[in-house]
Amino acid sequence: MVTSDLARPIELLRPPIIEFGSGTLAKLGDWARAKGYRRPFIVAGSSAAARVGMLGLPGDIGLFGAVAREPDVPNFEAALAAARKHDPDLVVGFGGGSPMDVAKLVAALLDGGQSLVDVVGPEKVAGRSVGLAQVPTTAGTGSEVGTRALVTDPASRNKWAVQSRFMLADIAIVDPAMTATVPARITAETGVDAMAHCVEAFTNLKAHPIIDAYALEGVRLVGRYLARAVANGADTEARAGMALASLYGGLCLGPVNTAGGHAIAYPLGTRHHIPHGAANAVIFPHVLAYNAPAVPEKTRLVLEALGLPTSTDPAEVSRLAGGYCQRLGIEMRISARGVPEGDLEAMADEAFAIKRLIDNNPRELTRAAILTIYRQAF
Ligand SMILES: [Fe+2]
Repeated sequence: MVTSDLARPIELLRPPIIEFGSGTLAKLGDWARAKGYRRPFIVAGSSAAARVGMLGLPGDIGLFGAVAREPDVPNFEAALAAARKHDPDLVVGFGGGSPMDVAKLVAALLDGGQSLVDVVGPEKVAGRSVGLAQVPTTAGTGSEVGTRALVTDPASRNKWAVQSRFMLADIAIVDPAMTATVPARITAETGVDAMAHCVEAFTNLKAHPIIDAYALEGVRLVGRYLARAVANGADTEARAGMALASLYGGLCLGPVNTAGGHAIAYPLGTRHHIPHGAANAVIFPHVLAYNAPAVPEKTRLVLEALGLPTSTDPAEVSRLAGGYCQRLGIEMRISARGVPEGDLEAMADEAFAIKRLIDNNPRELTRAAILTIYRQAF
């Protein structure tokens, strides 16, 4: 059986300032002014780009407002070119996980000493010459407190993962009021992404008691608040609970990270452009069930934290977790999301190749096991 290992050394990194709570958005402008920043550059997706005035930033403000849902290398290069033209002293990520990830890379590579291929992998970034602030507008990715950024290589369809302590924000502002207008479907899908970060860290081969505390509490918050936030987007307590769950999920990602669930979900995004949260949701019940024999007690705790009956029987775990996602209104069949059956083999090849995550899984994931999970989700 796989258990958390208190004897395994672990390093925790987090932004030196995390502002959390309704109304904290106003702190960004105060902070930027106090730091003397005069040329902020905002990296956003198209919906957040329309709201940059809310950030209250001082000085001559630049904007790249076209970060894609699954940003690829050309999309990142366009953001970097726009930033260089503006010549900022502060980069601000504003939106979901994709804009915040791109903002990290723009800040790290702005000075031109390194290119993207130079920094793929852990701790390859040489330094950072500008400030970095992160402002999430969804509750899901937890990217605001993390050191990792992902961009898709269009040639291989692989996600390139860059991890660096220089990509940690100087300030992260988590204002749940920013998520009040997120539609129910996206609230549900991004909420399940936050839960997946917590569950995959909790049941991880590298699980650690320090992170387990955040992970299990993150799942409890999802169990308590996600359905409420989906049912009523104006429920401020539920929105705050989900913002905290997302933050806890982000804290799980740095030192432990995800495992099989995210690896198996990635081809759904890179090949079929299924949003990241939805891709994780459709895979989640099947991976929780597959892993149950390796982590029976933790599986029981996850189900309990979600407010569900507990079980360690894989078929029952799958039914319970799948039912939970369905009640949130999430379409759980990948066939209904436009994935052709003929693609499952190639997707299994791609997921199996994501060793950095597959190797974290508590139960060995063969290519055949991955293919079976795609068929179960079909
Ligand atoms: Fe995720």
